[in-house]
Amino acid sequence: MKTVKLRDAMLNVADVGSGPVLLLVHGFPLDHSMWRFQLEALSDSYRVIAPDLRGFGASTGATETITMEQLADDMTELLDELGIVEPITLCGLSMGGYVAWQFWQRHASRLARLILCDTRAIADTEEAARGRLNMAERVLGEGTSIVAEAMLPKLFAETSVREQADTVEATRQVMRSTAPATVAGALRGMAQRSDMTSELPNIDIPTLVICGEHDVIATVDEMRLIADALPNASFFEVPGSGHMAPLEAPQTVNAAIRDFLVR
Ligand code: MLT
Repeated sequence: MKTVKLRDAMLNVADVGSGPVLLLVHGFPLDHSMWRFQLEALSDSYRVIAPDLRGFGASTGATETITMEQLADDMTELLDELGIVEPITLCGLSMGGYVAWQFWQRHASRLARLILCDTRAIADTEEAARGRLNMAERVLGEGTSIVAEAMLPKLFAETSVREQADTVEATRQVMRSTAPATVAGALRGMAQRSDMTSELPNIDIPTLVICGEHDVIATVDEMRLIADALPNASFFEVPGSGHMAPLEAPQTVNAAIRDFLVR
């Protein structure tokens, strides 16, 4: 791991392998370790970079509201600090996908390809946004475990819960140890994220859309519609997985990513 200093944050970053850059952006409220199987395997052919986003994991810099725009800007600053000038592949899961949309909107020239895992293009409904803001207040008072326990049942497919108990437990621990201020800031940021649906036809770079068969947060039907709306996308369903497909079925997901990157 290395520490990379941004203007107003220090990011903890995994940076392994050499070759074309694959930047992996984690979901909420997780850290770079959700990509451990991609870091291990794909670094044989790629430079795989997986930061803890500001405030998450061992990174600093949480703000009262952590917007998806701010996180996308952090990613370009990170690339600058690492001296990476060539267009990259950005792969984001769920909240990482919300960051990917903003990266495309704000820094398209730095993007060669997109991989969107288990994410959504729509904004929160008013009710969902209100729920996030209430949860942000509760987390600041009661701690992060209420979010961890509420989210855990939605992250993994039933088979994964039975057969990958260690992975599920490790994920629970990562969530529980995320600072309440970060969780609250990201909840506020996600609540105000923009609706990307009308932009999808303009995102014409090669894109791979990956979705776990049993994802209950970003469903297969919803993600198929995203892939259909993108002019240059293919859709890949991960059999037997839930929302955490790259962690639940790493070999399948890694094979899909490799196949996409050599196309
Ligand atoms: C995630 O996995 O990043 C979250 O489910 C995103 C969200 O809460 O919308």
